[in-house]
Amino acid sequence: MQGWNSPCTSSFRLRLQFSAMTSLDSIPVITIDGPTASGKGTVAQLVADALHFHYLDSGALYRLTALSALTGNVALDDETALVDVAGALKSTFQGGEVFLNGDNVSMAIRAEKVGNTASKIAAFPAVRQALVELQLRFREAPGLIADGRDMGTVIFPNACLKVFLTASAEARAERRYKQLIGKGFSANMHDLLKDLNERDARDANRAVAPLKPAEGAYLLDTSYLTVNQAVQQVLDWYGAVSKSA
Ligand code: DC
Repeated sequence: MQGWNSPCTSSFRLRLQFSAMTSLDSIPVITIDGPTASGKGTVAQLVADALHFHYLDSGALYRLTALSALTGNVALDDETALVDVAGALKSTFQGGEVFLNGDNVSMAIRAEKVGNTASKIAAFPAVRQALVELQLRFREAPGLIADGRDMGTVIFPNACLKVFLTASAEARAERRYKQLIGKGFSANMHDLLKDLNERDARDANRAVAPLKPAEGAYLLDTSYLTVNQAVQQVLDWYGAVSKSA
């Protein structure tokens, strides 16, 4: 479990109040990684709300890069050009909305085409590298919930709690279907399941930062859990990790 110097422990936080420690490492991070449509975004946002922590939706950064490349007609196999796109992203996150160059693209980045493109360009090591700094900047007091594929393995390896959240492919396809229909997009279960399996395979088999549980990650299968149960489980784990000295 976590030691006395872990940013998760209450003793550490107490000490923080009386010291002038400003190191980023002192800011607690909970990572929630998992495959597409596993519900990690919803769970992560609610855990962040409950703890009054900041929230990083790292997939949104890959989606923004994909959207920017698609609208700018950048060749999707041109790694150098894609790195330029990632490096030039002018994005802001405000109250759950995502803006690119001042335009609200919250809906646009959720389109399946953008998600699939994001998964493809995310396989380029240099594109991933171009987004590292941006992700690290989300680590702000009092804490951060970071959701993605490599939050616990690569971006925040010293996170105090790492969760790998998943659900069966069928449960995830059904959730994605309802999500898309709810947002006014058209959707087809058969195609969704196929896309989802392809995207899982690509995310899990890429050479750099593949989707996999981080060492020491707590596994959470949400196939038969409500959102509230999943959120509560993460909060319980965090409570336990915070208390253990
Ligand atoms: O979580 P999401 O579906 O919004 O992510 C879209 C794609 O971005 C996903 O298929 C793979 C990529 N991604 C990644 O490679 N690493 C992350 N930390 C987050 C997302």
